[in-house]
Amino acid sequence: MERKAFKDRIIYQIYPLSFCDSNNDGYGDLKGIISKLDYLKNLGIGIIWLSPIYKSPLKDNGYDISDYYDINPLLGTMSDFDELLKEAEKRDIKIVMDLVINHTSDQHYWFQEALKDKNSKYRNYYYFKEGKGKKPPNNWNAAFSGSCWEKVPNEENMYYLHLFTKEQPDLNYHNEEVINEVKNILKFYLDKGVYGFRCDVINEIYKTSLDDGKFRFFSRGKEHYENQDGCFEVLTRLRKEALDHYDTFLVGETSSIVPDMGQKFIDTRALDTFFEFDHAFCASNKFIPIFKKKFKPKYLIKPIFKWQNAVSWIGAYLENHDQLRSVSRFGDEGKYYKESAKALGLFLLSLKGTIFIYQGEELGMLNYKDLTFEESDDCMAKSVVNTATHILPITKKFAFKLVNETVNRDHARAPMQWDDSINGGFNNGAKTWLKVNSDYKNINAKEELNDPDSTFNFYKKAIAFRNNNDCFKDGEFIPLKSNSNIAKFIRKTAEESYLCVINLSKKEIKDKDIDENKQIVLSTHKKHQKNILKPYEGLIYKL
Ligand code: NOJ
Repeated sequence: MERKAFKDRIIYQIYPLSFCDSNNDGYGDLKGIISKLDYLKNLGIGIIWLSPIYKSPLKDNGYDISDYYDINPLLGTMSDFDELLKEAEKRDIKIVMDLVINHTSDQHYWFQEALKDKNSKYRNYYYFKEGKGKKPPNNWNAAFSGSCWEKVPNEENMYYLHLFTKEQPDLNYHNEEVINEVKNILKFYLDKGVYGFRCDVINEIYKTSLDDGKFRFFSRGKEHYENQDGCFEVLTRLRKEALDHYDTFLVGETSSIVPDMGQKFIDTRALDTFFEFDHAFCASNKFIPIFKKKFKPKYLIKPIFKWQNAVSWIGAYLENHDQLRSVSRFGDEGKYYKESAKALGLFLLSLKGTIFIYQGEELGMLNYKDLTFEESDDCMAKSVVNTATHILPITKKFAFKLVNETVNRDHARAPMQWDDSINGGFNNGAKTWLKVNSDYKNINAKEELNDPDSTFNFYKKAIAFRNNNDCFKDGEFIPLKSNSNIAKFIRKTAEESYLCVINLSKKEIKDKDIDENKQIVLSTHKKHQKNILKPYEGLIYKL
């Protein structure tokens, strides 16, 4: 039986504002993406996930949609999008869109109508509720800090719900009309030829009740809106009533997911797969995420190993637009920079599940070194800094330093580094919406394409290997006991098996399995030494 595309191909996430600016206005755009399709094809990519491209006031960089049927003019037009679909198809690349349906922008027509007129049917598209005396309707807090209720202007004691910023009011999935609106959006894009959707904060869309939440510092109230039965019902209905007419794919962003729930999303066909976040926060303090924890490879290896076999199919990733760069967090920016970028790439590309690569990860792009609060764009980073300075006796500068080391999303959103010309070739020199990382002269696509030993060319080789190897796509994943700095596992089908050994540390480590006489099919280093793994050395042996 033919494998479904999402189980067969590598997915590459594009953050459109930062990918390639074709008209030199400082913002990436759809024409820019079209101009780089050959680059992606050359890398071996089979599916692109586009972070939101819809019309949006960009309060949360597109995760605040003001019109689902229109394209953000900064990025282009609907005909540019049609062109992108056509050009991608020519190269046998599928397109996955971001589906942001937990909330809209406060500038969306539905919300504007709801604000204007108490009796409008759109009021019931959202959650409007009277406060309790002088307090908001309940004690829930918003993801980016503060209460998740905002007062409705010019109305006595009336509030609306927003789990994210106040410019992102939550939609009400108890309302049949909202479900119908979503079905229409899905059909509109599927009819255009879109392959699937990455569903933003999808396990939070259904609010079972608006009662007070149990005491918690973060996500207070989540027992009323996370992984609710109603969420499964809505998604399975979307599947049956809209999606099943197409060959399509849904990957969910599912915060604080646990294995049983994750598997339930797959078993009920609510989603095809999902992202877990255990490993994403492994370099931060569990209770106060803006406090950095000294990274140890086992913090990354353990949760990734856990999820490999905890569910039938996982969305495997190290980076996305909400995370810091993986080499900066889990690898080495210094002496072993290139080795660590390759080792992390090898680890990712050897896992079971759908592999997601984030733009620039294939080049080993790094965090900013010198971003200031004033230069920062991330609404979350800013609001966390403001809250931190309110509740802790620290200066803004220090709060930003902490945030920058742990949760600032700007690091991943810096413009893509294409070459060593002005602005890293992102555009022709116009001021960019977020500053270009100053390391672009050393880290850029042009340089790496020309260097056979580059991170890019290593990714290309590893992707080609995986694209042609069924065992790595869906063979068994068998974890092996090893030194805690080493990720050691077997990938296996009835026909073949491979041993993967990856040192994720700066240390040279003894390992009896390292043997130059075994058949090495992929490795980060050219030379190998019997029984020794060099710093960040990774190998795959055919058994
Ligand atoms: C998750 C998205 O990945 C993030 O960028 C966004 O801010 C929130 N959801 C709200 O939509």
